[in-house]
Amino acid sequence: MQYDVKDLKLAEKGQLRMEWASRFMPVLADIKEKFKKDKPLQGVRISACLHVTSETANLMEALKLGGAQVALTASNPLSTQDDIAAALVKMYEISVFSIKGEDNQTYYDHINKALDNKPEITMDDGADLVSTIHSKRKELMDDIIGGTEETTTGVIRLKSMAEQNVLNYPIIAVNDAKTKHFFDNRYGTGQSTIDGILRCTNLLLAGSDFVVCGYGWCGRGVAIRARGAGARVVICEVDPLKALEAVMDGFQVMPLEQAAEKGDVFVTVTGDKNVLSVQHFERMKDGAIIANAGHFNVEIDIPALNEMAVQKREIRKFVEEFTLENGRKIFLLADGRLINLSAAEGHPASVMDMSFANQALSAVYLHQQGPELQKKVYAVPKEIDEDIALRKLKTMNIKIDSLTEEQKKYLTGWEEGT
Ligand code: ADE
Repeated sequence: MQYDVKDLKLAEKGQLRMEWASRFMPVLADIKEKFKKDKPLQGVRISACLHVTSETANLMEALKLGGAQVALTASNPLSTQDDIAAALVKMYEISVFSIKGEDNQTYYDHINKALDNKPEITMDDGADLVSTIHSKRKELMDDIIGGTEETTTGVIRLKSMAEQNVLNYPIIAVNDAKTKHFFDNRYGTGQSTIDGILRCTNLLLAGSDFVVCGYGWCGRGVAIRARGAGARVVICEVDPLKALEAVMDGFQVMPLEQAAEKGDVFVTVTGDKNVLSVQHFERMKDGAIIANAGHFNVEIDIPALNEMAVQKREIRKFVEEFTLENGRKIFLLADGRLINLSAAEGHPASVMDMSFANQALSAVYLHQQGPELQKKVYAVPKEIDEDIALRKLKTMNIKIDSLTEEQKKYLTGWEEGT
């Protein structure tokens, strides 16, 4: 079995952390039981490019129990938990290629190693497998029946490929399932972004001015959690509807150049590039802290910050101090990489439970239905999404009401009025 991980001696620690996470993943645990019995993925080769965390490890275990042959690589050079990578190799005999802090070259070498598994299904978080296959590993295309995509940024890239007619196999947009983005993006990113910032700075958020760039599901989550910690939260948006929503949610909304002068902490969560750039760095207060919670490390214009700096040093782990010409200092967290996965542990297991239940069930759906699908981006089937919500409620011991026959008829008719 092939693998490349930091140190297999970390495996015992990784297995304990995996076990801890599994306590909070009861929906995935049900799926594991079912997969163990029914083997719905018997012999299917899956290559996955996901953050290598204790939650992902539980998904990998589920796929293996379902009969799949899995290879895993990281979807970000800084998001690997080395103990988890070791446990997957040593205790579960799953091929893992990822080391926290790997350079860009190693990152892509690892992607290629995971692709050497000759996948029939690809599982992406950010579309790096799909883009590598379509640009450099075209020979793999014939065997592939479909892929899944975990995140907003990946879905945007894949939809653009489909629109340009260059997407060569069907994709299930796991991100767009309601049981994914309503929860993972909002409550997962919200809590874990604050967690990442606090772990590397030990900052007091109460009374601080906290600027969130982007009010999508992730931005909403970061904003509500920062407000909950006592910060005065400012939202910067380009979409008038989202901006209006932020206003009515009770946040201050203003252009980023204005917010730049005000903020103590800035978080980018837009999915776009150079959101924080020279014109903002020039206006920031001495001591401003900047971090990114979007998928790629392009949201903060780090090359521009490097050019403006006369001095640079690491002042704490994951905190880089940039001194500008006039003596002001700006602190960049985790190299502008996803702060929640670089400086903390990513989203809590309880929310990844639903995201990864979607991944596991979508893989089975692709295996069964893939040949009938077109080269397009598909939603997770509604039945899977609703089933996951119901199961999650059940594991929380929460019962809900159901419609009477009379109410169902009323909702589908038009005849009755006042
Ligand atoms: N994305 C965000 N949080 C994650 C986690 N804990 N595991 C895998 N992918 C993630």
